[in-house]
Amino acid sequence: MIEEFNIGVVGAGYVGLTTGACLAHLGYQVTCVDRDEVRIAFLKEGRTPIYEPGLEELVRGGARRGCLRFSTELSKTVHGADVLFIAVDTPQGNDGSADLSSVGAVAREIGDALSGIERLRPLVVVNKSTVPVGSGDYVSMLIEEGAAEGGNGTIAYRVVSNPEFLREGSAIYDSLFPDRIVLGADTRDALDTMRALYEPIIEQTFPTQLDPRPKDVVPFVTTDLASAEMIKYAANAFLATKISFINEVATICELVGADVTSVAHGMGLDERIGRRFLSAGIGWGGSCFPKDVAALRSIAREYDHEPVLLDASVTVNEHQRRRVIAKLQRDLHTLKGKRIALLGLTFKPNTDDLREAPSLEIAHLLDQRGARVFGYDPVAGKKAAELLPSLRVVFDPYEALKGAHAVVVVTEWDEFRELDLNRVASLMEKPPVLVDGRNALDPRDVKAAGIRYRGFGRG
Ligand SMILES: NC(=O)c1ccc[n+]([C@@H]2O[C@H](COP(=O)([O-])OP(=O)(O)OC[C@H]3O[C@@H](n4cnc5c(N)ncnc54)[C@H](O)[C@@H]3O)[C@@H](O)[C@H]2O)c1
Repeated sequence: MIEEFNIGVVGAGYVGLTTGACLAHLGYQVTCVDRDEVRIAFLKEGRTPIYEPGLEELVRGGARRGCLRFSTELSKTVHGADVLFIAVDTPQGNDGSADLSSVGAVAREIGDALSGIERLRPLVVVNKSTVPVGSGDYVSMLIEEGAAEGGNGTIAYRVVSNPEFLREGSAIYDSLFPDRIVLGADTRDALDTMRALYEPIIEQTFPTQLDPRPKDVVPFVTTDLASAEMIKYAANAFLATKISFINEVATICELVGADVTSVAHGMGLDERIGRRFLSAGIGWGGSCFPKDVAALRSIAREYDHEPVLLDASVTVNEHQRRRVIAKLQRDLHTLKGKRIALLGLTFKPNTDDLREAPSLEIAHLLDQRGARVFGYDPVAGKKAAELLPSLRVVFDPYEALKGAHAVVVVTEWDEFRELDLNRVASLMEKPPVLVDGRNALDPRDVKAAGIRYRGFGRG
């Protein structure tokens, strides 16, 4: 029997909607709030506005059982909630720092909504958005300001930090079977509330179709607000740096004739290093790593510290995009007028997210050099066409390859591993060239089909 909680989740995007749907799956009463009316109307019709495997089924299931609701009215949700998650966007501002305007707007509204009501227990405001150290206090300050504008005495609330570590493409799995839950709080009662709320996940007692269950118990890490906020930035910056590290090694492998896939395998078996995030290629992108690394660099500079390692990590990443162009130029020489096919446009497989996707920058660099760029993606073609008018989006991979001088595998969707390489070769200009931006294909298969294979760091 789980403790009863009424939960509000503000922001129905990748994080908020997944969080809301998973908490409803555990049996809690959840209302997801978003200021985007179209998004909420969509959700009320049982449709999900984003592509995330399994999410639509989970959302529909929650709504059918009466556990999951959708609303545009934050104040009403505040009134009914015991716990309110903030999961709104914190994009990169013009100076590299995190733009906290969405978080700030929500905090003020919470304060305003709290000011008129008597509560039995303080509202626990849980910040899931990725925010700079000190934002917990900033949120408290804005809640107070909002309450003061509402004009009504003392209000009861607690602010805690609960950074999110889910990965798009496996967001539900990551939420229900996380490696750890991190909670930063300055008060014991808020920590206890959050411990109780996460009990079914910590103890892994909710129903699952997975057999055996991948985890016995999930570590619950409690700390102060500032450390919790820092854990998120440090984790993302470390992962981004790990990728930049292997990309640097890959470049050296090319120079000395070594194969980075073997090197990474041999390195990764060392438990101190680990095998994941050691895939060389066109580098990191997406909605989190670029902005979170930028924000951490910006925080460091605010305190007069030069974050040289983080700077280098970004420099290596920028080189990786340009190395795609260099590889194409090596075979095709001038790119002017050449037809180049990009396979995969999202920043990683199994999502429709195009934020900071390497494909966009590569398409732009190719366009600058006069190439004709065709793109195909299993789910995000339409969105990409809207974002980048110079990119000619087609809806079949072989269509993109017709008459192409070269093809770049930008995102390692499974379907690209299944391509009929003989058909690919027959559709392309001769000699066909394939740049494998993710080292996702077997070079022997590609070469056997008469296609020149250009990977990253593969000797
Ligand atoms: N996407 C990820 O993989 C991921 C992973 C971990 C952490 N995060 C962090 O989680 C946060 C949310 O990321 P996301 O990818 O889900 O963002 P998103 O852009 O997909 O969703 C944000 C939602 O918040 C809504 N919103 C903005 N301001 C609002 C307001 N004032 N009132 C109500 N709704 C409002 C937007 O309309 C949007 O639907 C960010 O801080 C991000 O860094 C994201």
